[in-house]
Amino acid sequence: MNDAWRLGIDVGGTGVKGNVVDTTSGELVAERVRIETPHPATPEAVADTVAAVVEAHAWEGPVGITLPSVVKDGIAHTAANIDPTWPGTDAVTLFGERLGRRGVHVLNDADAAGLAEVRFGAGQGVAGVVCLLTIGTGIGSAVFHDGELLPSTEFGHLQVDGHDAETRISAAAREREELSWGKWAKRFSRYLQVLEDLIWPDLFILGGGVSKKPDKWLPLLEARTRIVTAKLQNQAGIVGAAMAAVEGTSP
Ligand code: BGC
Repeated sequence: MNDAWRLGIDVGGTGVKGNVVDTTSGELVAERVRIETPHPATPEAVADTVAAVVEAHAWEGPVGITLPSVVKDGIAHTAANIDPTWPGTDAVTLFGERLGRRGVHVLNDADAAGLAEVRFGAGQGVAGVVCLLTIGTGIGSAVFHDGELLPSTEFGHLQVDGHDAETRISAAAREREELSWGKWAKRFSRYLQVLEDLIWPDLFILGGGVSKKPDKWLPLLEARTRIVTAKLQNQAGIVGAAMAAVEGTSP
């Protein structure tokens, strides 16, 4: 145990994953614990699972927790891919009471992944505007300017050609529609082009499960902005959650 260690917990659609992170190096310092996400993933059920992850680590210190939702001042506001009872939930109070402690920080999953990538991964030391996109059940976004996060951007819900973007370009959409990598890359390129005309980023970082096999799709993408894959892959959420639990660094 060290002053810079925090427990980071990433709440996803299929699993709730947690580990102790050395927030000065981004390294995971314990065995990762993963528990299936409860269904339905109501706030109470997720709080019980989060508590089980905390107990498995026998962790008593501050905890950072991600949610696939807009989170402002501890309140969850949206539920595109989680249980519809989340909006309006005071997540900090819910988790704080369930865990019996005050040092609980809750943030959006993509913002957490971005914090980790910009500090320790593919966005380290990159000046200007960096846009991280997580490609999973939905599309998450995190935007940085000179390393500073602009929270809650929700670019997965940009309207592209009359559609909520994530319903056509997420990993879930690719599987559902059985799209070839070529077809998916075409749609994703269109999305990147719309986004780059709006925010003119200097770098796109693409994360999520697909970032493990970039050879299949990265060369097919067409955009004027430089594109790289995320480095921390599925650990980014855990690391970013832990970073948010360091006082003063919450988005
Ligand atoms: C949600 C975002 C989330 C993203 C990735 C979207 O549907 O609106 O808040 O970051 O999915 O989980």
